[in-house]
Amino acid sequence: MADFTIEPHLADALGRLGEAKDERLRELTAAFTRHMFAFIEEVRPTEQEWLAGIEFLTAVGQECDDKRQEFILLSDMLGVTMLVDYLNHGSAPGVTETSVLGPFHREGAPKLDNGTTISQDGIGEPVVISGRVTDEAGAPITGAVLDVWQTAANGLYEVQDDSQPDYNLRGIFTTDGDGRYALRTVKPVSYPVPIDGPVGALMTALGRHSYRPAHVHFIVSAEGYKPVVTQLFTDDDPYLRSDAVFGVKGSLVVTYQRGAEEWRVTYDFGLERAA
Ligand code: BEZ
Ligand code: FE
Repeated sequence: MADFTIEPHLADALGRLGEAKDERLRELTAAFTRHMFAFIEEVRPTEQEWLAGIEFLTAVGQECDDKRQEFILLSDMLGVTMLVDYLNHGSAPGVTETSVLGPFHREGAPKLDNGTTISQDGIGEPVVISGRVTDEAGAPITGAVLDVWQTAANGLYEVQDDSQPDYNLRGIFTTDGDGRYALRTVKPVSYPVPIDGPVGALMTALGRHSYRPAHVHFIVSAEGYKPVVTQLFTDDDPYLRSDAVFGVKGSLVVTYQRGAEEWRVTYDFGLERAA
């Protein structure tokens, strides 16, 4: 039997995958194994460090339940979620760029008429957001659906805050015959991602702040088109260049124009035809 050294050990570990029936699973596990070997050779962890890493990932898993997904937060704060997002959606002319979904989307938001506010308690500075939904060539899409959600003026989503009405700051809008939509809301604020768990402890240990720049979330969809999961960011936010989850893209930063009674934002969304 050959001496135990790294190269034949890696070859042995990869060779065990040869029988996998699912080729994609084999490919993913092989790449993961190769990269883990390279990582371990690079950082040469002590056994205590390796155990600390395993304990950290265990704590991340234990923090997860039907309301909280700490692994997604870990992927978000490492920048991996936005990498996966970019590799899957890229950017194309006339198509709105994507951003992270985040953990606070809820199904079943109220369907509202254009021009209605999603703020049920009216707390905050009023804003009207309006524009069109078009195809890649700029032609309007009638009946496109915009699912919208954001935090309240205290930086909390209604699911995090018992003092807010159910479905506060959530709504579903539909474009009219010219592809136009309009909604009222309150000016969003920057807020921290949840930092009371192991991912927050890691961010603190790394000296990183946990803030996301102010944003409004959108899922824009229409029959025959690929849905876009995205966010619109406020142009004057101090965290625009250091979003804790790397979600900001230049094309998603919008100007809040001060009107007589409310802020105004205009933004046109572009959808790509489904294959
Ligand atoms: C959010 O924008 O809601 C969000 C995104 C990623 C992690 C935490 C929150
Ligand atoms: Fe958010």
